[in-house]
Amino acid sequence: MEKVSPPEKNKSIDLQKKSEVGKVFDIVAIGNLNYDVTLLVERFPEFHEKVIAKKAHFGLGGAAGNTASWLSQMGLKVGFIGAVGNDEIGEAHISYFKKIGVDVEGIKVVNEPSGIAISMIKNEDKRIVKHLGANAHREIDLEYLSRARYIHMSSNPKEIIEKTAKFAHKRDIPVFLDIGEAELPKSVEDKITYLLMNEDEFKRKYGSLENLQAVKSKNLIITLNGGGALLRNERGEIFKVKGLSAKVIDSTGAGDAFDAGFIYGIIKGWRLKEAATLGTFLAYLSVQKVGARTAIIGIEEIKKKAKELNIELPF
Ligand code: RIB
Repeated sequence: MEKVSPPEKNKSIDLQKKSEVGKVFDIVAIGNLNYDVTLLVERFPEFHEKVIAKKAHFGLGGAAGNTASWLSQMGLKVGFIGAVGNDEIGEAHISYFKKIGVDVEGIKVVNEPSGIAISMIKNEDKRIVKHLGANAHREIDLEYLSRARYIHMSSNPKEIIEKTAKFAHKRDIPVFLDIGEAELPKSVEDKITYLLMNEDEFKRKYGSLENLQAVKSKNLIITLNGGGALLRNERGEIFKVKGLSAKVIDSTGAGDAFDAGFIYGIIKGWRLKEAATLGTFLAYLSVQKVGARTAIIGIEEIKKKAKELNIELPF
């Protein structure tokens, strides 16, 4: 029988593959891994007083850990740079990530207690006490980072933001930065591809929502208090994404869910507005359950629920 030569390989796919050489992860997330204790109360305790919580939830948390958990269960190849204690909470983080497919090689185990976050929630009023613990000991492994197609940072000190953004810029790796309350180092503000924050954080940093053009990062994404998001792209064009109204049970992790939806959309090549629409949808799912990761579902279920609500997305 005549020998059939292998079909001519598609050069463009080859070229694309070359740029992907060594890229093991769709995204590497950098940030906190916490143990969350969330208490729903009718009122906050007075001095020396004990009150009984209506509801309590215990679970794994940490902003970047929450976003990484969403992305892995949505089917992306996710790496993580963080640190946990040599304790049961640290073991729980490692085994949970292994179970859902997040790579754990970038997670340091140190002789410090794992990070924790204690929240008391009374209707819209949420008060949190956090202890960084082991999270303060994470280190940036540049070789590990070089294997990422994208990088996401959330709840990081300015030193980590600066070191990571400079490295990523040199390697043309796009960076998502949820800046939260952290200080954004001026030296890297223009090296951030997607700068994310909520409305209150933006107003504390830049004054009013009129000042979107004052931000030097390439793309700016602001999640709005009433739901939805305000976006400014690299050409300075401004878009608004409507929010979805839901009865808010617990907003813990809603911002992380938004980040996951937005990141997923961008990695899949969607437009800014479409990616932010998915982010808004995941945040809508998240606030309806107590706990940062309780609402996490896989991509097929996300598609199904979005369709039920007539939310058009380019899946
Ligand atoms: O963004 C939500 C997270 O921040 C929670 O999981 C809690 O750990 C807090 O640190």
